[in-house]
Amino acid sequence: MIDIEKIGHIPTPFYYYDIELLRRTLKAVSDGASAHGFHVHYALKANFDPRILQEVKSFGLGTDCVSGGEVRASVEAGFDPSQIVFAGVGKRDDEIEYAIDKGILAFNCESLEELEVINAIAARMRRHATVALRINPDIDPQTHRNISTGHADSKFGIAYTEIESVIERIGSLEHLSIVGLHFHIGSQIVNLKVYEYLCKRVVTIIEWFESHGIGISYINVGGGLGVNYESPRTEPVPDFAAYFRIFADNLPLRPGQKLHFELGRSIVCQCGTLITKVLYNKKTASGKNYVLVDASMTELIRPALYGARHHIENLSGHDGEQTYSVAGGVCESSDIFATDIKLPATRRGDYLAILSAGAYGQSMASCYNMRPLPRSIYSDNL
Ligand SMILES: Cc1ncc(COP(=O)(O)O)c(C=O)c1O
Repeated sequence: MIDIEKIGHIPTPFYYYDIELLRRTLKAVSDGASAHGFHVHYALKANFDPRILQEVKSFGLGTDCVSGGEVRASVEAGFDPSQIVFAGVGKRDDEIEYAIDKGILAFNCESLEELEVINAIAARMRRHATVALRINPDIDPQTHRNISTGHADSKFGIAYTEIESVIERIGSLEHLSIVGLHFHIGSQIVNLKVYEYLCKRVVTIIEWFESHGIGISYINVGGGLGVNYESPRTEPVPDFAAYFRIFADNLPLRPGQKLHFELGRSIVCQCGTLITKVLYNKKTASGKNYVLVDASMTELIRPALYGARHHIENLSGHDGEQTYSVAGGVCESSDIFATDIKLPATRRGDYLAILSAGAYGQSMASCYNMRPLPRSIYSDNL
């Protein structure tokens, strides 16, 4: 529980990061991966706060980037380029150039045209780019449609129906070394069976490549491991051991093959809390109680974008429970954090904690309505 005494002087809203929990999570993920010799790249898009990046780096993880900005942030944070991978369907030329110049581990390429562009840029720079083919495996990740990437008609990855023509063309792309395959089927995946299906599909695809004389040394199965939003206190650290075991059991590696992961949410989600203050209480004509807070969709867009429901607590803790809907002040009807939840009687000035906000919270913040970006507070700095 966050101590109000310690945060009372800090202007709200802000993101509070529990560094001890982050370290516990990082230890669990790195122990779980190294038990099988797996490599983890932290997906920066989940949260690129500089302090968080330092913590991630201190546990020896690499990074997974989806923009030149993220590649640059990784390099500037001191990550070794040999541990940086770069995915994304829309890589710009200047971003590709920067990543080639830094000598990153791999571009995860999403189309034949992108392969040709990277080859041409590498040729111009008299360099070589290392590439993995991002294959769309057509697997339903059983998650929200806005964070599903692995179904056949999504914009992500190379369609498996296209692989043959890509292979034919690759031979003539002299400035590329194709080292492996990449998959990322979606995010907030809580049914671990989905990963078993993915493994089976990956095995079939690797066999296909091998039967065409193409050896695969790098296999990257992306990220997506889900977290418990409903009850974060009972499950603060995801079960990484169970997650990695699925891959160890279902994706047998040949000698020399390395298995890589790109985990974001599961590493940083539970350590982050959005702290906000109650501005107003009001009742609608139909009798609904609204609590208006000083955070909004500009600090945390997940409820508006994905219908996400975060667990909310009143840190000021008064007696008497009531049903409330918690809303932000932005001029959008979708700016609602929670609908009809039970909270202790809530008054102006109370502190509310919106839990499980460490992933895709601060990193997706915007200045819509000319609101300032939220700042970060760290538990060990109070
Ligand atoms: C290519 C890629 N890799 C990894 C991730 C990280 O996913 P997650 O935060 O669910 O682990 C994402 C996010 O969706 C992604 O697009």
